[in-house]
Amino acid sequence: MSTPVAFQPLNAQNIQRTLSTKTFGRTLHVLEEVASTNTQAAVLAQDGAPHGTVVVAESQTSGRGRLGRHWHSPPGKNLYCSILLRSLPTRERQPLWLSWIPLIAALAASRAVQVVANLKVSVKWPNDILIGDRKLGGILCESSGIGTSHAGVIIGTGLNVNIRRDEFPEELREIATSLAIEAQHPCDRTALLAALLAELETRCESFLTGNHEDILKEYMLRCATIGQRVRIELAHGEQIDGVAESIQADGSLRIIRKDRTTVDIRTGDVIHLR
Ligand code: BTN
Repeated sequence: MSTPVAFQPLNAQNIQRTLSTKTFGRTLHVLEEVASTNTQAAVLAQDGAPHGTVVVAESQTSGRGRLGRHWHSPPGKNLYCSILLRSLPTRERQPLWLSWIPLIAALAASRAVQVVANLKVSVKWPNDILIGDRKLGGILCESSGIGTSHAGVIIGTGLNVNIRRDEFPEELREIATSLAIEAQHPCDRTALLAALLAELETRCESFLTGNHEDILKEYMLRCATIGQRVRIELAHGEQIDGVAESIQADGSLRIIRKDRTTVDIRTGDVIHLR
């Protein structure tokens, strides 16, 4: 009896056959195990890998999350992938592009999940992928060689796909989820990867050709943070409490504090308060 498609190992040929993209994933590295797909993509970037190169692995021994956290990456269950972007806009538009990439990546990942698994998915600013209030996935964007001829940006996406609740470490069990848990059936990682790359390619092109407004609108609609009472934990330990009001043109999150003053957050950890 053949293995059901959802449990089949990732395979370069199958992935390539499923892709509908122009560039993303056309150069593809499928690895059994790697320290981190982002680190591997940075090495390839230094070696001159082309725009749209994708690294995907069955497991990561040192998967990295935002703010120096570890990303749980057991073998054969989930999706761990990194995409190398080479096309940068003009110098003046680069800061805007760099601040929007993580948000665009979260938008693309949430759309891909919705298309493939037909589940309602939202985003917690800036780039957590949520189902209800549990985390389904996350994005880690890193730039590589900016200012050199090998400049690139790496979008690392981790999505919990077929992992069962009892397979999560205890500290994640109540706060994380997977597609299989939510849909109550296993999911095809190849189809999910292909959808992710297609959604991402379309939005990157759209943003790079100046269609910033539509992305902002789409993000606002997806973003579960808007309208929530939130606590923002800033890097140096400071906390800001307030209501998340909107996303600004530069991708920052506007908070209204109790005293009616506003503050725009560019980086920080957001907690949705009840
Ligand atoms: C987060 O903290 O929410 C971001 C998690 C990002 C994890 C992905 S898995 C693929 C890529 N490689 C890494 O080491 N991290 C990202």
